[in-house]
Amino acid sequence: MNNSKRKRVFSGVQPTGKLTIGNYVGALQQWVTHQGDNDTIFCVVDLHTLTFPEDMTPKVRFEKSREVVALYLACGIDPKQSDIFVQSHVREHTELTWVLNCVTPIGWLERMTQYKVKAQGRESVSTGLLDYPVLMAADILLYETDLVPVGDDQKQHLEVTSDIAQRFNHLFGNVFRIPQVVIPKTGARLMGLDDPTAKMSKSTAEKKVGHAVCLLDPENVIKKTVMSAVTDSGQEVRLEHASPGVINLLTIYEVLTKTPRPEIEARFAGKGYGQLKKDVFVAIMETLRPLQERYRQITADPAYVEQVIKDGADRVRPIAERMMRQVREMTGLG
Ligand code: TYM
Repeated sequence: MNNSKRKRVFSGVQPTGKLTIGNYVGALQQWVTHQGDNDTIFCVVDLHTLTFPEDMTPKVRFEKSREVVALYLACGIDPKQSDIFVQSHVREHTELTWVLNCVTPIGWLERMTQYKVKAQGRESVSTGLLDYPVLMAADILLYETDLVPVGDDQKQHLEVTSDIAQRFNHLFGNVFRIPQVVIPKTGARLMGLDDPTAKMSKSTAEKKVGHAVCLLDPENVIKKTVMSAVTDSGQEVRLEHASPGVINLLTIYEVLTKTPRPEIEARFAGKGYGQLKKDVFVAIMETLRPLQERYRQITADPAYVEQVIKDGADRVRPIAERMMRQVREMTGLG
């Protein structure tokens, strides 16, 4: 089964907010391309959502995990080819996190951009938020992961994962494989449609209309969001000095339609922003219409979703248990 060319691919999404086309392009769309030729494991990282315990009720946490699993399936993750599971269903994630905590200098975590951004303006911040990258490192290292397909914003977390793995290997012996980050060439960071200087984010999308196109938004809402996207004071697409808002729209068009760049340039150069937005809207709907239809069919059968995550956890658990046994032996635990 695991011949030498096959790579272990691992990635995940936090079940928070409303998943956007940023998540689709940066993560889910690329995950699908790894299926078949590799051992692909996709996780819904519910433990990470506890870093802000007051932001989500237990009921919503449970339901969001299932929603995200259903979205994985609707986006084309095939449970016959990939293992899909919920992080908290495999206990080894938290156990390995403790061991890794003890080899991770606090300074590495305090430097994380995402920690600083998320902690900003909060009266109190949990230890879990600071520790977030260590839990993420445990997710990846438990499964001897070769490749981690993610968007651009996760690069720093992947760097610290490698640092933690190397430090453990140095202190206790060579047990962890050093993972490689895989970031898409185009669309690694889609920007907000209301503000093209800020990353499109699923938590902002939940609070602010017009910020993002969400995977489950109705057509009329998507149309309004795209047609009111911020561009600049000009009228028509100028490719030499395109503004961030125009670049963002062109990027969305490129990644969703897979049109080569020269063709896109020929299509839009000198055209009005209205035309560009209309074509972006059509491209989005061509992707989201079938996705939403699949989502409706999948969620009509909640027992199926439960079965998928049970089977997924049952298949990946032995891998995590084996790794954890090794870690216990090497550290003199157990
Ligand atoms: P999360 O849930 O914030 O995002 C999920 C995935 O979507 C990508 N992404 C984007 N890509 C392009 N443009 C955007 N605007 C955009 N916004 C988000 C993210 O880069 C990510 O790939 N820490 C992770 C979850 C995680 C994880 C892991 C990932 C936990 N453990 C192990 C990989 C491996 C996170 O919060 O992603």
